[in-house]
Amino acid sequence: MRRIVNGLNVYYVDVGPRSSPTIVLIHGFPMGTEMWQSQIQALKQGYRVVAYDLRGQGRTETGDGQFTVEFLVDDLIALLDALKINCAVLCGLSMGGYVALRTAERHRDRVDGLVLCDTKSEADTNEGKLARAGSIKAIKEDGVREFAKSFLRGALSPSGLSNRNLVSVAMKIISRNQPLGLCGTLLALACRTDTSGFLPTIKVPTLIVVGEADKITPVECSSRMHSAIQGSELQLIHDAGHFSNMENSIQFNEKLADFLTDRIKA
Ligand code: MLT
Repeated sequence: MRRIVNGLNVYYVDVGPRSSPTIVLIHGFPMGTEMWQSQIQALKQGYRVVAYDLRGQGRTETGDGQFTVEFLVDDLIALLDALKINCAVLCGLSMGGYVALRTAERHRDRVDGLVLCDTKSEADTNEGKLARAGSIKAIKEDGVREFAKSFLRGALSPSGLSNRNLVSVAMKIISRNQPLGLCGTLLALACRTDTSGFLPTIKVPTLIVVGEADKITPVECSSRMHSAIQGSELQLIHDAGHFSNMENSIQFNEKLADFLTDRIKA
């Protein structure tokens, strides 16, 4: 489905019973809605499930390519408004987690649960900013496909990398992206705020999920969030790296379903 949100043509999926609790799936960089395929299938009987392509990625427009994570929060709120969703559980992976945390910080009343997957609350270090600069240069010089190959080598676990179907699906999702949108997103990520100070004030049910072999946002990042968010739950996903929901979707979906059943009221 498509809709104009904040002046941009946004691609999204909206399935499941309207009377059930809503879960919004926010993808990681440099991906798109399709990375949530397995979760959409698993959840749509019992929940209203919304997934969308963030500005600059997938099938959503990029605009002029100059935006920040604050714009991404505004886009999410505008999408919720357009779909007449007052409150939702925000489930974000990596960059999606940054957007979920910042949305919860700015719009506490719109969030009734958090699922933080393979993500962290800290902003980029100098080293991280330099890595973003390197990625922008690589995308401009070598193109999106070459960038996708090297990104996946760092993101997936050894068993993820040996799964040819998974690698080909991920390559397809990443390769759909355009350089302008990806480079704009990298700049937005480099200048995002640190949400660590907000964590102790979170009052909604929170599940933290991380692939045991995640090298981009390692288990320690999740452990720190777990210690800071009172009453949060931490689950490690076996045989999975940074894209834990795709690499071990069976275990990921079990943990997500258990959390939603136990902690989110229908
Ligand atoms: C992501 O998966 O969203 C990115 O790897 C996050 C990041 O680069 O900080």
